[in-house]
Amino acid sequence: MLIRPVRESDIESLHRNRLCGLTIEETAELVMSATDEEHGDESRFLVAVAQGGGVVGMTTVKRLKHRMCRHRAELGGFVILPVARGTGLARRIVDAASRHAGDWGCSILEVSCRGGTHAEKAYVGLGFQVWGQLPGGFHDHDGLVFDEVRLWMSLPTKTP
Ligand SMILES: CC(C)(COP(=O)(O)OP(=O)(O)OC[C@H]1O[C@@H](n2cnc3c(N)ncnc32)[C@H](O)[C@@H]1OP(=O)(O)O)[C@@H](O)C(=O)NCCC(=O)NCCS
Repeated sequence: MLIRPVRESDIESLHRNRLCGLTIEETAELVMSATDEEHGDESRFLVAVAQGGGVVGMTTVKRLKHRMCRHRAELGGFVILPVARGTGLARRIVDAASRHAGDWGCSILEVSCRGGTHAEKAYVGLGFQVWGQLPGGFHDHDGLVFDEVRLWMSLPTKTP
């Protein structure tokens, strides 16, 4: 399994595997804007690619832009296909994202998820700590309401 920045050639696989939950046009737009943003910016759209070339996992990692938050980076859209869950891939993806964040000088990695889901337990299992919970912060499809749980982990500081 290879973890690398997304490429235009991943669009079809991302869409076919329903990783983004978007139409093919929206997926293409997302990938193209991510690759544009990566040029000169502190933002990556990472994909985990199986041997045949299919995308089985993804996350974005972005350095926060506010001047007081430049030491923080946040994961977004972290998803792994059910067939590849529980295999250690989540840890490899977080490690890859952490390396990018560390290279940008960040010392905090953040993520948020729906409270009470496997994702919350998985993030804690990966070493994140809960620092906040917003009751009813997420309104999902079908009227489902979840708390938004926000988590963080400390990143090793780089010696110059
Ligand atoms: C969230 C998601 C990416 C996590 O990936 P995953 O493969 O399910 O994660 P894992 O089961 O490997 O769990 C990660 C770690 O937490 C541990 N863990 C999982 N459940 C645990 C539990 N109940 N108690 C303690 N540790 C637990 C695992 O053992 C693993 O640690 P390891 O690498 O040392 O084995 C995946 O479940 C997913 O795509 N979910 C659907 C989309 C989603 O909800 N994304 C989050 C949006 S913010």
